[in-house]
Amino acid sequence: MSGSDLFSLEGRVALIPGGGGAIGGAMAVAFAQAGAKVAIADVTLERSEAVAESVRAVGGEALALAVDATQESECERIVAETIARFGKVDVLVNAIGGGAGRVLYDAEVYPRDAWDWIMELNVRSTLLATQAAVRAMIAAGHGGAVLNISSVRADLGINAGYSAYVAAKGAISSLTRQWATEWAKHGIRVNAIRPTFVDTPQVAMLLDDPAFKAGVVSRIPLGRVGGTEDLVGPAVFLCSDAARFVTGQVLGIDGGLTATQ
Ligand SMILES: NC(=O)c1ccc[n+]([C@@H]2O[C@H](COP(=O)([O-])OP(=O)(O)OC[C@H]3O[C@@H](n4cnc5c(N)ncnc54)[C@H](O)[C@@H]3O)[C@@H](O)[C@H]2O)c1
Repeated sequence: MSGSDLFSLEGRVALIPGGGGAIGGAMAVAFAQAGAKVAIADVTLERSEAVAESVRAVGGEALALAVDATQESECERIVAETIARFGKVDVLVNAIGGGAGRVLYDAEVYPRDAWDWIMELNVRSTLLATQAAVRAMIAAGHGGAVLNISSVRADLGINAGYSAYVAAKGAISSLTRQWATEWAKHGIRVNAIRPTFVDTPQVAMLLDDPAFKAGVVSRIPLGRVGGTEDLVGPAVFLCSDAARFVTGQVLGIDGGLTATQ
C-alpha cells in the first residue's frame, strides 16, 4: 500500500450523526473526497440533504437522513437505513454537540435543566449513536472506526460559565479511551479530536466579541482560532488505515494551545 493509499477511505461507509452541522458537514465532504460513501443524519432531512448535495457536488455518494440521536430507536434506525443503502457501516463520526455558549452560568448556581440539556446534546447522542453503530459493526465482524469530537475544554478550565460543557467533553474523552479498550477485540478503533475554538455559527456569539476573541487568539501559539478545514485532515487520518495502530487517542487540534499549559 502506497503512502497516499494509506489515507484513502475508498470502499468505506461513513455515518455522520450531526453531519448537517458546520464541523460534521465539512467532515462529510472530506470523507467523500477520501473515497467514502457518506450517510448524513441530522435533526431535519433538509439539513442533511443540504450537506448531501455538497457531497454529490464533489463527486461523492451521499444518503440524507433525519434523526433525533437522543433516542435509542432513532439511532438504530439510521444505522439500519445506512446498511440498507450502502451495505454496512465502517466509520462513525459523532458530530452532534456543542451548545456551551448558549448556557453560561456561574458554577455554584449552574441550573439543572441547562446541565441536562448539554449532557443530552453531547454525551447521550454520542453514546446512543455509537452503541447502535458498534453493535452493527460487531455483528458484521468487519471492524470499524469511531471518531468522537471532544474539546480542549475537556482538559482546560475557562472562567466563563462552562461547567456542563467541560463535564460533557471530559466524558467524551474518557469514553473514547474506555470504548477503545473494550472494542479493540472486535477490530474497532475509537479516537477523538479535541479542537480549541473553531470558527462556526455555534461560537459566533463568543468570537464576535473582539475582546473575547483577542484573548483566545493570544493564548494560541499559531495565532488564530481553527476553521473546519483544519479538522478534516486529522479526522480522515484517524478513520483511515494510516491510523490502524492508533486507538484510544484524543488528538488536540488547537494551534498549540495545550502545549503552553
Ligand atoms: N465550534 C467549535 O468551536 C467547537 C470546538 C470544539 C469542539 N466542538 C464540537 O464539535 C461538534 C460539532 O460542532 P459544530 O460547531 O459543528 O456544531 P453545529 O451546531 O454546527 O453542528 C451540530 C449538528 O448536530 C445537530 N444535532 C443537534 N442535536 C441533534 C440530535 N438530537 N439529533 C441529530 N442531530 C442533532 C444539529 O442540528 C447540528 O447540525 C460539537 O460536539 C462541538 O462541541 C466545536
